[in-house]
Amino acid sequence: MCGITGYIGYRRASDVLLKALKKLEYRGYDSAGIAVLNNGVSGAELAVRKMKGQLSVLEAALAEGSPEGVLGIGHTRWATHGEPSDANSHPHTDISGSIAVVHNGIIENYARLKSFLRERGVVFKSETDTEVIVHLINHYYQIERHKPGDPLLRSTLQALSKLEGSYALGVIARDFPDRLIAVRKDSPLIVGLGKNENLIASDAPALLAYTREVHFLNDGEIAVLYNDHVDLYNEAGEKIIRESSHIDWDAESAEKAGYAHFMLKEIHEQPKALRDTLNPRLADAHTPHGAGELKIHFDEFNLEAASAKAKRIVIAACGTAYHAGVVGKYAFEHFARIPVEVDIASEYRYRNPVFDKDDLFIIISQSGETADTLAALRLAKERGAKVIAITNAVGSTISREADTVLYTRAGPEIAVASTKAFTTQLVCIYLLAIELGRLRGALNTVQYAAAIAELQKIPENAEFVLKSKEAVQRYADRQFNKKKVFFVGRLFDHASGMESALKLKEISYTHSESFAAGELKHGPIALVDKDTLVVSFATQEALLDKITSNIREVLSRGASSLIVTQEGEPQARLAAAAIADEIWTIPQTDAPFTPVIAVIYMQLFAYYCSVARGNDPDKPRNLAKSVTVE
Ligand code: M6R
Repeated sequence: MCGITGYIGYRRASDVLLKALKKLEYRGYDSAGIAVLNNGVSGAELAVRKMKGQLSVLEAALAEGSPEGVLGIGHTRWATHGEPSDANSHPHTDISGSIAVVHNGIIENYARLKSFLRERGVVFKSETDTEVIVHLINHYYQIERHKPGDPLLRSTLQALSKLEGSYALGVIARDFPDRLIAVRKDSPLIVGLGKNENLIASDAPALLAYTREVHFLNDGEIAVLYNDHVDLYNEAGEKIIRESSHIDWDAESAEKAGYAHFMLKEIHEQPKALRDTLNPRLADAHTPHGAGELKIHFDEFNLEAASAKAKRIVIAACGTAYHAGVVGKYAFEHFARIPVEVDIASEYRYRNPVFDKDDLFIIISQSGETADTLAALRLAKERGAKVIAITNAVGSTISREADTVLYTRAGPEIAVASTKAFTTQLVCIYLLAIELGRLRGALNTVQYAAAIAELQKIPENAEFVLKSKEAVQRYADRQFNKKKVFFVGRLFDHASGMESALKLKEISYTHSESFAAGELKHGPIALVDKDTLVVSFATQEALLDKITSNIREVLSRGASSLIVTQEGEPQARLAAAAIADEIWTIPQTDAPFTPVIAVIYMQLFAYYCSVARGNDPDKPRNLAKSVTVE
């Protein structure tokens, strides 16, 4: 929610900020702005350009003339307090226009602070919570400015001590043309370390064009960036020394590479992302059965030790990551014969869950910054659980607070709709479930080897689906105007439907839901009519007869029918039953591995429906990529 950036160095700050904001636009896109200290000279003008609308609106305005200067901050907004408008856009400035602030997060006690400041004569220009921050800094600056040391840092620290809520901030001031102050608490912020230039950004892709050396700020930490070095401070204002970290991602991975949208690019990156996530965790076992047999191993941790006493697994996550957790429930139960509880993180944190400190607790989050997921992790840790995080973001808050991290090696995911993160999360889950199955004796040697063989097929099975994209596009061009799209299936197929329905909702704005096929008759079938497309996931041979009856029921109510099934016997039987307008197939595989492939069809379908409806799939309305606020 909201992207912030900042630059100090030798380049034209306006250009750097705009470029960085383009990489952060997925975090919010209802307004954007920059503040640049003209010419980087003390007492020079602090030039602010900000406006409602997508970043392209700001870009067009800056093309007419952008402020000179080598120090600046920028923001792309996802409105929380105050509607999208020029006035509510960031950066916000104090009454004299000499301090500017960009903010990502929510100031919970802003109303109280507003009264405090109003009583002291401050007139507010916006309806945002953020504006109180800049006025507070100025309030303390007026007291501190004539004292020795760094009055800007001191007044920022004093202002922070009054704030409740979450924030990542960039602060610049007319009196200090040589520095940029950055702060984080419960909202992500990364400091990029360049040569004679330094930067801040909410997310790594915005920094990659300049550097891959970074500091991940911890909660409460403050960075003061100069063009030739960066000082780090703790909450108390004491200097701290820390080694920088290196980010592996390259700048190209955060570009569209000729695809019309990031989402389409990321869908196509799945075979590679799946291989990158899977292959390093498979090694020759050198078992009595001979070298060349594969075994799952985790460099990151010892699963045997982590799970030794566990009688149960608990999974918590949000959105797409939650759907990965639903597949996880079935997969762990299938392979490892262990009970699993899977919960939406935003529910979990409020429901006073029953804990056993030996539970194996798994948190799933692409960004590693989702506020509710982080809260579930913290709750689990408070109650003594050991937490494994499956995440894509090295250095994210969740990766730093979990006891163990299993990284999905998907590369940066920019599109709001999650695709390659989901399928790589599933690979991590399969790896854990199969290995746990071996450790618990639920899988014998033959079953273990067979499961690994199926795992290895996943990347090429994904390639198989991608080859059908023209057929998917043609079908989407016929169906994109359907008022309702319902997904039906059982178990793993139902989980595929849940994720498919979310994809369709978020980027094509079609009302879509997934129903456990057996539940249709208990209510949902009342919704089915000729304006409905029913997508049946029918990948499990043992359940074919059941799902065939369900499809007949919806057909007799006038719905259109698309079936996703497996090649071979299931395909032949469903084709013979003549119950589909269209059948898409996935290569033969065991039931647990069907969602990771079948969902790719629906990622493509949702993408093409979105484009056919004239939407921008990368920037769905009302959504942002990382939900870092509740
Ligand atoms: O970064 P996270 O995986 O924690 O994000 C969780 C959800 O916000 C996310 O999956 C969201 O549902 C996506 N937009 C779905 O495509």
